[in-house]
Amino acid sequence: MTLLTARDLRLSYGGTPVLRGVSLSLAPGEVVCLIGPSGGGKSTLLRLLSGQERPDAGEVLLDGAPAELPRLRREVGLVFQSFHLFPHLDVMENVTLAPRVLGLGDGPALAARARALLEKVGVGPELHGRRPAGLSGGQQQRVAIARALALEPRAILYDEPTSALDPERTADVLYLIRARAAEGIAQAVVTHDLPFARALRARTVHLEAGEVAGDAPDLLETPRDERTRRFLRARLP
Ligand SMILES: Nc1ncnc2c1ncn2[C@@H]1O[C@H](COP(=O)(O)OP(=O)(O)O)[C@@H](O)[C@H]1O
Ligand SMILES: [Mg+2]
Repeated sequence: MTLLTARDLRLSYGGTPVLRGVSLSLAPGEVVCLIGPSGGGKSTLLRLLSGQERPDAGEVLLDGAPAELPRLRREVGLVFQSFHLFPHLDVMENVTLAPRVLGLGDGPALAARARALLEKVGVGPELHGRRPAGLSGGQQQRVAIARALALEPRAILYDEPTSALDPERTADVLYLIRARAAEGIAQAVVTHDLPFARALRARTVHLEAGEVAGDAPDLLETPRDERTRRFLRARLP
């Protein structure tokens, strides 16, 4: 059973191919770790999978059927490295904005739901009235995850979720990802942090030069492709 599928995605920018036929699928509750050199197309792939952008060719499928961009945007959440919270809105407003715009409930219902989500990710009520600038990186990341959850996504994609965090906060991200997996949410995590990738204990996909060079549960321990071996060798002590 696959929830979210990339089928032979191709995309070029100004004639330069960035994705050259990428296929990938995610099952409910599955976590996939995406690794690869900078410029390999990881962020681009996340944008296509979350309906932020359309491929030149190929398709993104939900439950095995092609999905239009609005549906992807609604059902596939995206969490960025630098959180991308709205700086002029407080924590509650950040979490309730999208569901309010989409008319998913009245004010009190949305606020109650936002409080529950913030509690779930460990953001206490004393922070609800603060703007992002008044929060630590780890707190902003939690708010960004609560905001993604507010649309009840079936999949969440994270673009380098630990790279702006102190090392001790990395374990929190791991915990939050595991908790979402237990809820059946499919997740893909782009990271260049190999210890974090190992700690995820997830199926790992190596994307290089717009192609999948490897996709295996034990890719980090037993890389089969020479490109993966080279990539890992250059990054391991
Ligand atoms: N909007 C864009 N316009 C032009 N080129 C882009 C755009 N987005 C990404 N690229 C190019 O596509 C390639 C892949 O980028 P990206 O998906 O960000 O890779 P990664 O996340 O793996 O580092 C890079 O060469 C980048 O410069
Ligand atoms: Mg990137």
